[in-house]
Amino acid sequence: MKRVVCAAIALASAASTPAGAQGALNLYCSVQVEWCQAIATNFQRDTGIRVSMTQRGSGENLAAIRAEAQNPRADVWFGGTGDPHLAAAEENLTQDYESPNSAQLQPWALTQWRQSNRRAVGVYAGAIGFGFNTELLGRKNIASPRCWADLVDPRFKGEVQLANPNSSGTSYVIIATLVQLMGEDQAFTYLRQLHPNVNAYARAGTGPIKAVARGETAVSLSFVHDAVVERNAGFPVDYATPCEGTGFEIGSMSILRGARNLAQARRFYDWALTADVQRLGYDVGRQLQTPSNRATPLPPNAPDLTRIKLIDYDFARYGRSAERRRLIERWDRDVGSLPR
Ligand code: G6P
Repeated sequence: MKRVVCAAIALASAASTPAGAQGALNLYCSVQVEWCQAIATNFQRDTGIRVSMTQRGSGENLAAIRAEAQNPRADVWFGGTGDPHLAAAEENLTQDYESPNSAQLQPWALTQWRQSNRRAVGVYAGAIGFGFNTELLGRKNIASPRCWADLVDPRFKGEVQLANPNSSGTSYVIIATLVQLMGEDQAFTYLRQLHPNVNAYARAGTGPIKAVARGETAVSLSFVHDAVVERNAGFPVDYATPCEGTGFEIGSMSILRGARNLAQARRFYDWALTADVQRLGYDVGRQLQTPSNRATPLPPNAPDLTRIKLIDYDFARYGRSAERRRLIERWDRDVGSLPR
């Protein structure tokens, strides 16, 4: 897998922190950088704990956590799709914790917690769909996609973008969704048929919808809340959820095994589950996932998951480490390596 150099954002130097005695927290973050920065800055302000934050895709953070297992650099991993958090739990890379705030959470957030042996908890949820640039499609006179079956149509030749599942949890959710909808062999046949329509496999899950917003590609496979983020920013973007049904994520949070700042990690974990902090995703980060704290309202214009045709996504199976590895290797072999 391509190693990616990424910036660790040290939010404050020791000298500028008034309560240096509060200690430090090393945070790996897999949501959009605006939200990562908002939680890092606000936690530091609320607690005096110095935060050093690194933002990377879910697959990339899992790879880093594996590589650092003997000498963990991070204390907490916040956000990113749920499957790699489950894989990390199974691989004994994270540790169990029960927050006093867990009673405030949605049932799906606690299902994730129980399935991971109390090592990963749900912080938000979101559904997969199609994002598209309405101006570009209009100019090219192409009807927008409504169903998975539409996307392999030749009218979308070179017009579709999705991410690479090695780095992106979003892309893995898409593959696991197709496998659950169609059966595995048929899903890979579908992905091979889709390949001529794909102009790029981006590194980050949000890469394709940002390319849609910039008018570089007409259609993306994305979390639909990310499409609304771009529309709210003024771009001609709309979305649809597949008529056959679609998969979803339980965006998660885990404390790393061997965390050097365990007290601070638990404090962050408790803090991140509170109703007020879960509002930061929208209030500061402009993000539109469904929050896991029951008292946090769904942000305005956020996709309402109860109105989307969701599959009964098998998190236990597709969060299994060996299954995740096997499907990604098959994608590399059967799809990613095809000539373009
Ligand atoms: C975006 C979405 C999140 C998702 C994350 C996964 O930030 O808004 O809901 O969990 O992407 O990122 P990745 O790069 O791993 O696909």
